Amino acid sequence: MALVNTKEMFKKAYAGGYAIGAFNINNMEIIQAIAEAAGELNSPVILQVSAGARKYAKSEYLKALARAAELDSKIEFALHLDHGADFEICKACIDDGFTSVMIDGSRFSFEDNIAVTKKVCEYAHERGITVEGELGKLAGVEDDVKVSAEDALYTDPNEVEEFVTRTGVDSLAIAIGTSHGAYKFKSEPKLRFDILEEVGRRLPEFPIVLHGASSVSKEYVDIINANGGALGGAMGVPEDMLRKAATMAVCKINIDSDIRLAFTAGVRKVLTDDPSVFDPRTYLAEARNNVRDLVKHKITTVLGSENKA
Ligand code: G3H
Ligand code: 13P
Ligand code: ZN
Repeated sequence: MALVNTKEMFKKAYAGGYAIGAFNINNMEIIQAIAEAAGELNSPVILQVSAGARKYAKSEYLKALARAAELDSKIEFALHLDHGADFEICKACIDDGFTSVMIDGSRFSFEDNIAVTKKVCEYAHERGITVEGELGKLAGVEDDVKVSAEDALYTDPNEVEEFVTRTGVDSLAIAIGTSHGAYKFKSEPKLRFDILEEVGRRLPEFPIVLHGASSVSKEYVDIINANGGALGGAMGVPEDMLRKAATMAVCKINIDSDIRLAFTAGVRKVLTDDPSVFDPRTYLAEARNNVRDLVKHKITTVLGSENKA
C-alpha cells in the first residue's frame, strides 16, 4: 500500500520502544510471506535487498515484486538497500525507486567512511531517501566480504557523534557482538549493551540498527537436521536480548538467516515426508507458510511492532 522512507517509522519506533523488522528478500515467496504477516498484524516493515539478492533475482524482478506487494497488501513498508558497498550501487537503487539505502563504509578508515557516507546522504536527501551508515565491523559473511571473529570491531562510542554530524546519516548500524549467518556464538551469547547504552546517551532519539540479529530458532534447525540437513552448532541472538535492544535505541532489527532457516525447513520437510513430490508449488507453499509464521512471531514477540503501521 504505502511505500515510505524510514524517517517516520523510526521516529515512532524510538518513541514507542519497539523496532521495525528489516527482512531480506530474495524471491517471490519470501516477499509474499512478509507482506502477508505484516498485513495481518498491521505492522510496518522494511523489505531489504542485498547485492547478492540483486545478482540472484535481478533487481528488475525484485522491484516488480515489491511493487506487487505494495498493490496487493495494505502494508506500510520501506524498500531498502542492504550493505550498499559504494556510492554507485546506492545511487542506482535510489534512481530505481528504493526509499532507503545503507552505505556500508565500515571496511574503510573513519575519514573515508565519513566521505562516502556524506556523499550518499547528499544524493539521497535531495530525493527524500533516508540513509543508514555503519560504524564498527560485524563478524560473519556479507556477500563477498568475510570478517573473522578476531577482526570484528565493536563500535567506539567516542566516534558516533562526529560520524553522524559530519555525514548527516538518518540511522546508524553499530557492532555490539552480533554477526551475520547462523553461527553467531561458540559459547554463551553476549552482547555489549554497555556500548548500545553509551551510543544512545550520546545520540539522543537517534535510530540505531542491529545487523546480524537472527535468533536461529532451534525449531527450524531441528527440522532441517531431522530431514537430511547438517547445521550442527548453529546459534543466534536470544530473543529476550533483541527485545531489550528494541526498548533501547535500536529501531531496526535485520533478519535474513532466520528466513533462510524457516524456508529451508519447509522445503526439506515436504520433500522428505513425500519423496514423490516434484511440484515446486507444493514445497514452496510450505516454505512460504513457515516464513509468514516466522515474521508474525518476530513482530509480536521480538519487535513489538504489531498495530504500529
Ligand atoms: O548481511 C547479509 C545478509 O544476510 C545478506 O546476505 O549477501 O548472502 O544476500 P547475502
Ligand atoms: P542475520 O544473518 O543474523 O539474519 O543478519 C542479517 C543482516 O544483518 C542483513 O543485513
Ligand atoms: Zn547486515
